[in-house]
Amino acid sequence: MLATSLKILNEHYQALNNEGEDVIQGLIQSPKTLPPKYFYDDYGSELFEQICELPEYYPTRTEAWILQQYADEIAQITGACELVELGSGSSTKTLFLLDAYQKIANYCRYVPIDVSHGILKSTVLKLQQKYPNLFVEGLIGTYEQALTKLETTFASSRMIFFLGSSLGNFNPRECDDFLSKITRALQPGDYFLLGIDLQKPKEILEPAYNDSQGITAAFNLNILSHLNWRFQGDFDLNLFTHQAIYNQNDAQIEMYLHCKKTHEVSLEALDFQVCFADGESILTEISRKFNLVNMQKQLETHGLKTLKTWTDPKEWFGLILCQA
Ligand code: TRP
Repeated sequence: MLATSLKILNEHYQALNNEGEDVIQGLIQSPKTLPPKYFYDDYGSELFEQICELPEYYPTRTEAWILQQYADEIAQITGACELVELGSGSSTKTLFLLDAYQKIANYCRYVPIDVSHGILKSTVLKLQQKYPNLFVEGLIGTYEQALTKLETTFASSRMIFFLGSSLGNFNPRECDDFLSKITRALQPGDYFLLGIDLQKPKEILEPAYNDSQGITAAFNLNILSHLNWRFQGDFDLNLFTHQAIYNQNDAQIEMYLHCKKTHEVSLEALDFQVCFADGESILTEISRKFNLVNMQKQLETHGLKTLKTWTDPKEWFGLILCQA
């Protein structure tokens, strides 16, 4: 049986890079923002798994359908390679790819990367039991940490994949930075598989980010609990409400936390206080909706040539396989 491992990337990274500085930067801006990575503490990751099962949240199930249909074809095109997943979470959709690659290679290596320790640990253990021949090396860390680490750590042919339309959570500038980092982590001939949510009517988009059971609201609010435990904060979750709107001009869902009462919040570990006014909002996340053809052009400018794209019958979600 092959070994399986779980590694924390650059344990001192955060201390060295002024952990929490990004929180302060976001909260002194107007309008206030928060970095989305703080959604994903262990509880946040658990809530996100629940979001993925919601009837209104179509992206996960649509992307899973595409992967189920075409995973074998993807594996045929790339041949055996090391599989690296950014933001792997529970790796549920990945099972279709792992099954496909197990069919074409007798040795397979999978590197799931996630900021949440809890979910990655249980995922790695689950995969080890399900696939005794798979070498799983879980990395706990941010995309940035992982992508720079990968450059020096591994050498064989690889496919990096980034599913769930998480690319849409970056603004255009961050998106370009991210794609440059992807290119740097790939050798010529390596592959990048990208899942993106496509533009569609507001009537379908908004409920996906504002479900009737209030799970998305709890997920959005949990970012404040995370800041409370991580930086000794005193956010009162009762003083904020969740809202998601589709901004048609920028083709993006915008997720807000609206403040209901003027008050001050302190983050003791950061030695930072900030005032919130009644009616003021924090932009906690954007989720951009894409056009398949434009995305291929953008990938091309980063030296990533599209080999094939796939979509579902309603053309709600797209999968792009490209090569460096
Ligand atoms: N990548 C997911 C998306 O953009 C993240 C997400 C889904 C999300 N629902 C959310 C983030 C609600 C914050 C709040 O679809």
